[in-house]
Amino acid sequence: MYLKAVGAVILLPIQILYYIIKAGVCFLLPSKRKSLTGEVVLITGGGRGIGRHLAKEFAKQGAKKLILWGRTEKCLKETCEEINLSGTECHYFLCDVANREEVYKQAKVVREKVGDVTILVNNAAVVHGKSLIDSDDDALLKSQHINTMGQFWTTKAFLPRMLELQNGHVVCVNSILSQSPIPGAIDYCTSKASSLAFMESLTLGLLDCPGVSCTTVLPFHTNTEMFQGMRVRFPKLFPPLKPEVVAHRTVDAVRTNTAFVHLPWTMHALVILKSILPQSALEEIHKFSGSYTCMNTFKGRT
Ligand SMILES: NC(=O)c1ccc[n+]([C@@H]2O[C@H](COP(=O)([O-])OP(=O)(O)OC[C@H]3O[C@@H](n4cnc5c(N)ncnc54)[C@H](OP(=O)(O)O)[C@@H]3O)[C@@H](O)[C@H]2O)c1
Repeated sequence: MYLKAVGAVILLPIQILYYIIKAGVCFLLPSKRKSLTGEVVLITGGGRGIGRHLAKEFAKQGAKKLILWGRTEKCLKETCEEINLSGTECHYFLCDVANREEVYKQAKVVREKVGDVTILVNNAAVVHGKSLIDSDDDALLKSQHINTMGQFWTTKAFLPRMLELQNGHVVCVNSILSQSPIPGAIDYCTSKASSLAFMESLTLGLLDCPGVSCTTVLPFHTNTEMFQGMRVRFPKLFPPLKPEVVAHRTVDAVRTNTAFVHLPWTMHALVILKSILPQSALEEIHKFSGSYTCMNTFKGRT
């Protein structure tokens, strides 16, 4: 028993070193990408914003079928028609991910009408551009129900079949604000931090499940309706990401089986600095970047 424990302790740093070298080699060499032919992809919030670009990107990269969920029929229908015209089968269903009965009911409809979902993309989210004191209680609850709890219901609805098939991927479009929260969108940052914990837990929990993996993408500010009107201090220094770039990198991360992706990659620096710098130094970085005040300059998207 004692020898076994000593052996495991000696082995651990060797394994860590091996995986660091492997990651470095993979970073330098072109990675092998899995084919999406045969994959049935469901995207929550697939009608507009990043979700719409994700749908187009999955179709472009060869997915067999797409399913879009959302609350607004007009944009779902438009995106769906565009994908069908491009030659990929696409369906849409009205579904509010905050409503678990609706999620379970629509998941059953999807299985019967379209087939088994093999890639689930949890993308739907809302933001209330108000401080804690100014937000009404229902608005605070709504963002937790959509941004966090919605993922519980969708994942519970589709993951069991993925495990049976030994083929599946759960994707989360998270946010860098989950690791570096800022004021003015306290409900959003809290929901995204909670959603990140959900994905970290799920990713580890699926380690021994062959054929089923997870990808979490953490983008910086992206040019969609979500934070429309937000004024940042140095727009040229920190320009917003294009939603098509976020979509492309997300699909690529699924195909290369990458668990966590920071967009842009320079956001890693923020996460590292956060874990080593004293709070006063971090406050200076926030003051410099203007992130203290930028959240007060937009209305939110609910
Ligand atoms: N924009 C950014 O700066 C940014 C940065 C980092 C991460 N993200 C993340 O990227 C994801 C997509 O955001 P986006 O920028 O594309 O925002 P967006 O343009 O506002 O789109 C949000 C999408 O979520 C859907 N949605 C909202 N509530 C829903 C609900 N209850 N049930 C089903 N669908 C719902 C919306 O459709 P309906 O309104 O029709 O339901 C819409 O399709 C979000 O998870 C967001 O947190 C965005």
